[in-house]
Order: sequence, then structure tokens, then C-alpha cells
Amino acid sequence: MILKSKKVLVGVTGSIAAYKSCELVRSLQKKGAQVRVCMTPSAKEFVGELTFRALTEDDVLSSWKDGKTGLEHISWARWADSFVIAPASANTIAKTASGIADNFLTSVALAYGKPIVFAPAMNTKMYTSNQTRQNIDKLKKWGNIIVNPEEGELACGEEGEGKLASVEDIITAVMYSIFPKYLKNKKVLVTAGATREFFDPIRYISNASSGQMGYSLAKIAYTLGADVILVTAPTCLKKPYGVKVIDVVSAEEMYRVVIENLPEADIVIMNAAVADFKPESYSTQKLKKSKENPVVNLKPNPDILKAVGEKRKKDQIIIGFAAESENIIENARGKLKSKNLDYIIANKLDVFSKDTHRGWIIDKNGNITEIPEMDKESSAFFILEKIFKR
Ligand SMILES: Cc1cc2nc3c(=O)[nH]c(=O)nc-3n(C[C@H](O)[C@H](O)[C@H](O)COP(=O)(O)O)c2cc1C
Repeated sequence: MILKSKKVLVGVTGSIAAYKSCELVRSLQKKGAQVRVCMTPSAKEFVGELTFRALTEDDVLSSWKDGKTGLEHISWARWADSFVIAPASANTIAKTASGIADNFLTSVALAYGKPIVFAPAMNTKMYTSNQTRQNIDKLKKWGNIIVNPEEGELACGEEGEGKLASVEDIITAVMYSIFPKYLKNKKVLVTAGATREFFDPIRYISNASSGQMGYSLAKIAYTLGADVILVTAPTCLKKPYGVKVIDVVSAEEMYRVVIENLPEADIVIMNAAVADFKPESYSTQKLKKSKENPVVNLKPNPDILKAVGEKRKKDQIIIGFAAESENIIENARGKLKSKNLDYIIANKLDVFSKDTHRGWIIDKNGNITEIPEMDKESSAFFILEKIFKR
């Protein structure tokens, strides 16, 4: 519930993608947010006001005459911790970029006074037109947050840029608009996922890590203002919005990329579940079934965390993870010391491939903070806030 007790105002405009706002509202609520909706009059041609009224159990305003006082464009602007216009039509983008406030939604936008999240959705030619480009550039220059649309097949039948960004990416931008910037001007390097050690073209040794915790840490570090590089072994997860992603497969590849990017990093978070061993040999052809059981001999992989601890600069902050089946705290403390880390996050093995995380933050002075069980995004926030809030 990373958005627990946060108030989010969703603005819906007259785009064919307006139906996706229903999903956005539900997803924000599932993350704990209190949501209100305002619409442009033309948005009501696309989705019924009643849908949003039922989803939010609150008034949905598209005109002053529907409000109790007529001053709701001010009170709703004050109420919101985040204002996200999704989908944002070319027309509403143009109006807000020009200070036009001729309907309830554009008036809230003018009265809001903080960065607004815009998620544009429109036909490619409308999106790439000089007018829209200039309007978006203006909004960006003023500090507003633009969630770039994706490329793909559009409702008008054309292919190209203009498809509304995913709900997940829009919510990341909402979080960015709300969270304090503890990590401003910091370069953060995160590793995630389970490396794969192939012994023929399609078979490999790996482990049960889903990558969820590492992806959450990368995403939350971005929302806290960091410049993030995520080095990831293969996962089924969507790449986090706002984060530079470098894909790798094996531990050796991950080692190379991490060491290459280490000098630039202020903070390194080593969450990947790296295979300790790899097959001694690799067959370029698929191994055939035979009467004898095949034997795969293993040899050690490079120890990335150890290398980071050795090559680190003094002022870098290095955070490791330790998944242990027994003597969790004791073993994690040993790892923290032997690998020359600043912090280690210790957890049991049961957090693997699970949506929730619980564990302990241990620092180099021996202090321990318990991380209660919570979803992985909230846990990532808890960890980064505990370590970096000053
Ligand atoms: C079927 C249909 C689909 C439309 N889809 C979009 C769209 O995806 N994006 C957009 O910017 N405008 C779209 N428009 C045009 C807008 O609805 C129109 O510019 C309207 O004035 C927007 O008003 P608003 O910004 O106040 O909501 C569409 C119009 C129609 C009839």
C-alpha cells in the first residue's frame, strides 16, 4: 500500500483511451490512494461519469454547477497530493500550456500550483505535430511530469507513438510527483533477477528469484529523485519507468556491467540472485538423451558483491542482500563484514517469488531495523527511507 493515505485527483479528457482511466483509478486505490475524478465535458462522451462515481464513491466533477459551493476547482486543487491527467488530450494539453481555464478540469490545473502528471494519448500525427510538441515542451519546462506515450497500434488504425502509457508507468509518475527527493542528484546502481548459467543452447541453472524486489528498489529510487541504472538478469517483469535498464544473462556478464558502472555510482544496491556456480562446459548443440545420466560439473562464478566491496570508493554506499535459511542475522552480519558493505538486507528464503517481503536492515555498526511484512514496493520505500532520509 505504497500510496496509503495519499490523495490523488485523476483528470480524464476526451480521448479514446478514456476507458483506461477506470483501470488507473482501481490500481491507485489498490495501492492505498484515496482517489477523486474530474472530467472534461467531452470526456463524458467517452466514459460515463457514473462509472467513476461508483469506483470512487465520491462526486465526479466536470462543471462548477455540479459542485456544492462552486469553488471546488480551488478546494479540489488544494485537496490533491497528486494531480494526474490521464489520458491527456491534445486539446487539454494546449489549453493548460496556455493558461486557458474554460472548464472545471483546466481550472483545477491552473489552480493546482504543483507539478501535474500528464499522460498524453492521441493519434501519432496529433502527438508529433509542432503545436503539441511545443505545448508539451512548455509544460515540461515548467516542471510538469510527462509520461511519454508508447508506440503501437492506435485506435485510429495507425501505428506509431501516441498510445497511452501503461497504468503501471502512470502510477510511477504519480509516486514521483508525491515522494520527497531523498536521492536527488544521486546515481544509483541496482542489480536484480536470477542469473542464468547455460550448459547448452536452451538449458541453464538458475534460481527462484523473480526480480520483483530489485525492480521495486530501482523504481522507488527513481521516484525519490535518483538517476537509476538497473542491471537485470532475465525476468518476466515490465521495465520500471524512468530507469535505465541494462539486460544481462549470466553472472559473468553482470559482473562486467556492474564493474564498468561502479565508478559513477553513489549508491549500489546488489539485489540480484547471482548463481554462485556455473557449468564447467557448454555444448553448442542441444544435449541428447542417452542411456547414461548426463553429468554437469560446476565451477565458481565471479563474486560480484565481493569485487564491489574491494573496488568501492570510500564515499560510495554499498547495500547487499542476504537470503538465509538459518542463523539469518549472524550469517548476514558475517557477509556484511566479509564483503565490506555499509548495509545488508537480511531475509528468509520464503520471500523468493512472493509479492511481499520482510526482513532486517543491518548496518556496519551492528544496528538492526526490522522490516515488517509488506508488498515489495512498500518494502523498497521503507528500506530507502530508513537509510537515506536525513
Ligand atoms: C472518437 C474520437 C476519439 C478521439 N480521441 C482522441 C484522442 O485519443 N486524443 C486526443 O487528443 N483527442 C481525441 N479526440 C478529439 C478530442 O475529443 C477533442 O479534441 C476534444 O475537444 C477534446 O476535449 P477535451 O480536451 O476538453 O477533453 C477524439 C475525438 C473523437 C470523436
